[in-house]
Amino acid sequence: MSLCFLFLASLISATLATPFLAETSPADLFGRSQLLTSGCSTTGTASCRNTSTVSNLCCFEAPGGLLLQTQFWDTNPSTGPSNSWTIHGLWPDHCDTTFSQNCDSSRAYTGISSLLSNNGASDTLAFMRTYWVDINGQNEQFWAHEWAAHGTCMSTLKTACLPSGSVRGAEAVAFFQTVVKLFQTLPTYTWLANAGILPTNSQTFTLSQLTSALKSASGGFTPALDCQSGTLNQISWYFNLRGSIIDGVFVPINSPESGSCPSSGIKYPPKSGTPATTTTTSGGGTTTGAPSSLPSKATIRSIQSGSPVGGLLTAGTWSTQTLATMTLSGTTSSFTMTSSRGNCGVSSGSLTCGSGVTATTFSAVSSGGNLLLASGGSTAFTSDGVPSGTTVYTVYTGSSRAQDYTLSIVST
Ligand SMILES: *[C@@H]1O[C@H](CO)[C@@H](O)[C@H](O)[C@H]1NC(C)=O
Repeated sequence: MSLCFLFLASLISATLATPFLAETSPADLFGRSQLLTSGCSTTGTASCRNTSTVSNLCCFEAPGGLLLQTQFWDTNPSTGPSNSWTIHGLWPDHCDTTFSQNCDSSRAYTGISSLLSNNGASDTLAFMRTYWVDINGQNEQFWAHEWAAHGTCMSTLKTACLPSGSVRGAEAVAFFQTVVKLFQTLPTYTWLANAGILPTNSQTFTLSQLTSALKSASGGFTPALDCQSGTLNQISWYFNLRGSIIDGVFVPINSPESGSCPSSGIKYPPKSGTPATTTTTSGGGTTTGAPSSLPSKATIRSIQSGSPVGGLLTAGTWSTQTLATMTLSGTTSSFTMTSSRGNCGVSSGSLTCGSGVTATTFSAVSSGGNLLLASGGSTAFTSDGVPSGTTVYTVYTGSSRAQDYTLSIVST
């Protein structure tokens, strides 16, 4: 595993999204880069899985085909939201876990904020200001370092691979957009929280407690966990890639090596920051785009693996038919919801709306530009199947059923 020596940032967890890790689908990639498309197929051999030499390295990541999305849990000092890990980076390790760094000093861009905001990636920048933060507050240097050290080693981002006439730095914009999108599919904090593993100073965890929770929440993939003095500090989620970093498909894999955490006595201390409910960013005055106030009328839309899939009907069930307009009363930290049928409430883990239903108090969490419905503090919802046509499914809280998703509150 490669190490980032110069800067330490912390990471994430976004209460975001997708309880299950799966190959990113083309729909996830929509809008990832407004600037570039690679023209590469995403159905060919994944990186590090070829059995003979691949010649077009614009569409096949090599030698850095073992990709790690690394995240920090920084508590001393704390960085980022208290309910999220933060982004460290995306590193192109070689298939045998050795690695290269700083591969092209002529493209060691600085002024990453301007590069992003000048090239249609202000949303990405806003997200980075909350979730890709340097432990010493030196975000610009940290981002430039991550690009120069790791991004310039990616074969699919070489200048010769870009469409002619691409603006200088366009491939770095694509790099940051891809890292942010990938991170948003890896809500480490939420995955641990949903297994009852919350930051604490009064308890330690075994490595197998942590990895088995993450393995099951991610759909069966084991990350590498790194510790400093017995304190959990970093996680690496591993992938191979079909196609280009710009718009390719990330294929999750098990970590090929263990991290540095001991087998037991692992500390996972709380951060001192505030939770990411309203994520107003510092500097720039922009926000992540997530509304911080609760709309009074909204549809509740399901997001599964980054893609919209229907939402709630008046009975509180999940469907792809015409969605109910819900009335929301209260604030983002505490509100009730009613449909034309009556109160919405959670009883024995399932959601229903109707006359005679006892209203549940919900909360809303801003995440990745969405305002997500939370029950008992968790944004995870789950059903036995995915609706289509006239089929509807009961919505359960948590992630115990086959299909996991989040519910986004969309003002009407
Ligand atoms: C896979 O392709 C890369 C790039 O051409 C090459 O370096 C590597 O040796 C190939 N792997 C195998 C097993 O042939």
